[in-house]
Amino acid sequence: MASHTLAAIDVGTTKVCTIVAEVTAQQELRILGVGIGPSAGLARGMVDNIHAAIEAIASSVERAERASGARILSAHVGIAGPHVSSMNSRGIVAIGDPRHPIADGDVHRALESARIVNVPPNREVIHVVPRFYVVDGQDHVVDPLGMFGSRLDVETHVVTSSTSAMNNLIQCVEGAGVRVESLILEPLASAEAVLTREEITQGSVLIDIGGGTTDIAVFVEGAVVHTAVLPIGGVHMTRDLVVALRVPQPSAELAKRQHGHVIPSMVMEDEEVEVEAFGSEGAKTVSRRLIAQVLQARTEELFELVLAEIRRGADPEMLSAGVVLTGGASGLPGVDLLAEEVLGLPARIGRPRHLAGLSDILHDPAYATSVGLLRWSLKEQEIMFRSTPSPVPALGGLFKKVAHLMRVILPQ
Ligand SMILES: Nc1ncnc2c1ncn2[C@@H]1O[C@H](COP(=O)(O)OP(=O)(O)OP(=O)(O)O)[C@@H](O)[C@H]1O
Ligand SMILES: [Mg+2]
Repeated sequence: MASHTLAAIDVGTTKVCTIVAEVTAQQELRILGVGIGPSAGLARGMVDNIHAAIEAIASSVERAERASGARILSAHVGIAGPHVSSMNSRGIVAIGDPRHPIADGDVHRALESARIVNVPPNREVIHVVPRFYVVDGQDHVVDPLGMFGSRLDVETHVVTSSTSAMNNLIQCVEGAGVRVESLILEPLASAEAVLTREEITQGSVLIDIGGGTTDIAVFVEGAVVHTAVLPIGGVHMTRDLVVALRVPQPSAELAKRQHGHVIPSMVMEDEEVEVEAFGSEGAKTVSRRLIAQVLQARTEELFELVLAEIRRGADPEMLSAGVVLTGGASGLPGVDLLAEEVLGLPARIGRPRHLAGLSDILHDPAYATSVGLLRWSLKEQEIMFRSTPSPVPALGGLFKKVAHLMRVILPQ
């Protein structure tokens, strides 16, 4: 396969990141250009001001175009927000002629049958991720192609989104002059960027603590079993500091980044730091331990909510490889230790790896989703080249695009 280019846009609550990459003949990513700018018009991962969001996306896209010298006509885009929900579903099909090996068409039919879940009219299926196959009762088949059998089952993870939240996001990206090639659930993208194959096989949890959301993906025995998006992130930590320290938001944000910690006992009791205050007060000194106490309370509460989500997907006993934390707010000192304490699992901080080209800035946890969008779409394309795409139903307008987004994908 010759090299080709890919583009991804991560429309986060605090930043928009556009990446243009070349896919080499060895299927590796070489970064050609990155465009990062502040986000606008988003709250809790969802668009709440279309015009502001279009402007922020257009500016990030323009920067990436300038950096790469490439024109971005279409891109893979991340989707998150508390409106996203997931469930596991089994698809079952009979193999017409058991004397013939299982072919792409059979796998597609099985996936289509798994997609027929009870979706209310105001929701859309955005992913049908195969977890494993069963051929005539033989469990945990990774790839059934070429096998013989008379019945094929597929266990899948189905992700659905609110139609309006999805359309708002598509409208913003298209308003910035870029066609949406596919929508990808952000926790799945982040996992693709930072989890190792071994972690996915042994059982692990990806936790991406962003600005407005915390994205979770739980993996057991090599496959995703649960995904969730909580509407809490670093923005809320900063807001807590605004209230507790009575300082303006930019000053609280700076205090969090420069002096933040989530384990108060690891901060000297008498340590004081200077922060900008409101009004005529100018600067004031505050206890660094107080900052840590405020951040600890919010982060601990967040991990308790995460634990409840993990339990909805798996018994924590099955997650031998533990937790991988990523996202901008995983930069808070002590966050891995607090995660270990609340979740009772080993934790590490995950950064995007294995990138070539102009990629220095992307080796930061804040860019896990951005890099993961490229990786996920690359995996999806490899499969598309291998197999016959399922026919797109004849629908008009936006729904035609949506139908295109509902393509099924296969595991690595
Ligand atoms: N060193 C740091 N210490 C603490 N917090 C940090 C640090 N660096 C970044 N953050 C926080 O990380 C958050 C942004 O993370 P990220 O860039 O992953 O979010 P996003 O992608 O814009 O938002 P989301 O994914 O939630 O829509 C901000 O709240 C920021 O304050
Ligand atoms: Mg993000």
